[in-house]
Amino acid sequence: MFVADVGRTWLNHPWKTKSRLLTERSEIDELIQFGIEEVYIDTAKSVKKPRLEPRPKPSLADPKNAINKAPTVVHKSVEPIVSMESEFPKAAKAYGRALDTSKALVAACRMNKRIEVSEVQENVDELVESVSRNRDALTALIKLRHFDDYTYTHSLNVSVLSISAGKTLGLTDAELKILGLGTMFHDLGKIRIPDNILNKPGKLTDDEFAIMRNHAALSAEILTEQHLNVSDQVIKVARFHHERIDGSGYPDHLQGEQIPPLATICGLSDVYDALTSDRVYHKGMLPHDALKFIYSLRGTHFQPDWVDRFVQSVGIYPPGSVVELNTGHLAVVMEVINRSLLTPLIKVVSDPNGQLYSRTKLVDLSKPAENQGWTINRVVPPSEAGFDPASFYNFAAE
Ligand SMILES: [Fe+2]
Ligand SMILES: [Fe+2]
Repeated sequence: MFVADVGRTWLNHPWKTKSRLLTERSEIDELIQFGIEEVYIDTAKSVKKPRLEPRPKPSLADPKNAINKAPTVVHKSVEPIVSMESEFPKAAKAYGRALDTSKALVAACRMNKRIEVSEVQENVDELVESVSRNRDALTALIKLRHFDDYTYTHSLNVSVLSISAGKTLGLTDAELKILGLGTMFHDLGKIRIPDNILNKPGKLTDDEFAIMRNHAALSAEILTEQHLNVSDQVIKVARFHHERIDGSGYPDHLQGEQIPPLATICGLSDVYDALTSDRVYHKGMLPHDALKFIYSLRGTHFQPDWVDRFVQSVGIYPPGSVVELNTGHLAVVMEVINRSLLTPLIKVVSDPNGQLYSRTKLVDLSKPAENQGWTINRVVPPSEAGFDPASFYNFAAE
């Protein structure tokens, strides 16, 4: 059989590639020994012969029998445990608290004060818990709260995107917490970069760029200098988030698998947030344009597998996006989790003439009984929508 994906143990992978044609029973045993209880099989790529040795009669109580069950999935994800309605207000509070912490963190570093790691860790834990309950609530928030200051939101957004991607990739909570902390700290070194370079509106000169590139090493330096009680992996996320597999990154020009996995997730989220955020001098890209750009870095800057999984995690229509339907109606994307990337749960908010409805309707695009033949035509830039999509997350009012 052709194993397309071994799923959750991606970081501790038994193979060099994520997929492989299995011809021996012993190869399955190798997976089981690795703690892998479930794989995704591409039946189209599987071959009839050579056959695997006959397997013993399956016992339903034995999780390893799951190895034969699942077809290839489009969007492998985590079940939302609670509804968006119930999670959104909690996520909003956690986001607000983490944003305050992000501000305090930058202020402390500017004044050379000690970082309160336990406070940041507490916020990160809340983010991890929220993502575990319903991943879409926090990802909607980073889209909806686009008005906050980039200096403080960027690290937090990278943290949310990374935790969310990490969750999709099957990281454990402990790994997610390390990733969350590392990403919150990833750009701290920027406070030691002169303002005229950091905020220069035009293109940086080669010399300025060389100074700017120091920020990743400086982030790690700040964490080391303070002798913080954090895992070495946290410091590596900060130091290596600009490393790229072809060696073109910085500060250490690491290559390929030398780059720690968590730093790669931070790197992908970092590029995505930088491209999609509105800055003083340019409007942010739409999510699918940013993903297209990231896709172009596949194989040069980032491992192809990682890019694919990141794209799957973010989705083409992230929650909080405004979309135009094939009929011209406008809708806000509410939930994408566990759905095909093309058929999210949406709230239809205006008629084809742009007239907002006083009563909006939730529509599951994947259900023919609900979708009235609707499909998504395109993503509408927030400036063009004429309304604030956040107002349709009205259960946020608390
Ligand atoms: Fe950076
Ligand atoms: Fe960054």
